[in-house]
Parts: sequence; structure tokens; C-alpha cells
Amino acid sequence: MALLHILRYPDPRLYTVAARVDRVDHRIRKLIKDMAETMYAAPGVGLAATQVDTHLRVIILDISEAHDQLGVFINPELTAASGVADREEGCLSVPGVYEKVRRAERITVRALDAQGKPYTLEAEGLLAVCIQHEMDHLEGRVFVERLSRLKRQRILAKLKKRGRRAAEPEARRLAL
Ligand code: NI
Repeated sequence: MALLHILRYPDPRLYTVAARVDRVDHRIRKLIKDMAETMYAAPGVGLAATQVDTHLRVIILDISEAHDQLGVFINPELTAASGVADREEGCLSVPGVYEKVRRAERITVRALDAQGKPYTLEAEGLLAVCIQHEMDHLEGRVFVERLSRLKRQRILAKLKKRGRRAAEPEARRLAL
């Protein structure tokens, strides 16, 4: 296993639209293992392959307290979405920034698991937020792009001022 480098916003590579995975093979399973190690070390609760500069449709999540319930979504697609919820989000690619984002409250997602087996999951609340946040990454969209232009400019200024000095992701807040 290996710790992967996480791209930082506004790195242009974060705007890449990820390609579908044709075959879930050992290469994809190695990517998932490395992503999981990277996510747990950060620490974060979700990670998209885009964030580690691999532009394939793979996301992982673990919102459990014990960090023992890794969710793997390969080629995820939303088949239903309803309701509206505003929840504070953060992102491992935008360290130290937490903002409320409006998303669907309930979703149904179809994906392949790490064995390449299709499954469908209904999610709501925190889990639904995380899945939508990570799926955005696969479309080349970082959550700050869902904020007003003013807020986004403030965030960019803050990141620029901070420069290369890393902000630690805060435990207990949602870093995806
Ligand atoms: Ni993120």
C-alpha cells in the first residue's frame, strides 16, 4: 500500500472529468487500497480518485466511527434524488475550508463494488451528502464551485495567503 498525494484546489487537474472503469481488476483494487490508506491517514471520510490525480470513476467513503465500513463505488450513477438539505462540507483538496452546500436529501445510487459486482444503495443524510460530494469530483467539480462567486473568491484569497503551509483537516468536521 502507499500514501498518495492529494491535489489541492485550485489545481487544474481537479477539473478533469474521470473516465469510466471498463474492468475491475487488480489495478483498480490496488488503487482502492491506496486511496483508503490515504483517506484514513488524512483523516477524511471520503475520497475520489480525481483527488489523487487518477481520472477514473472510483470513489470511496467511510463515515463510521470505527473506520471499518469502507464503501466503494465504481462508475457510480444517481438513479433517483429527492428533497433538499444544506449541510456543512469540507474537502481534503481544500483544507481548512468548511461551507454549507445545498444538495439532494435522499438519493439512490447504482455502482460496482470492489469485485466488480453491481449494486444499488439508497442513502440519505450524511451518507447522501458524501456520495454527491465525491461524485462531483468525478465530474471535475470541487464543492467550492457550488458556492457564490463572492464566497469562492474569499476562499481562493485565503488559500493563496496561506500558501504552501498546510492546514490540518479538523477531526469531527466533514472532510471529503
Ligand atoms: Ni472533496
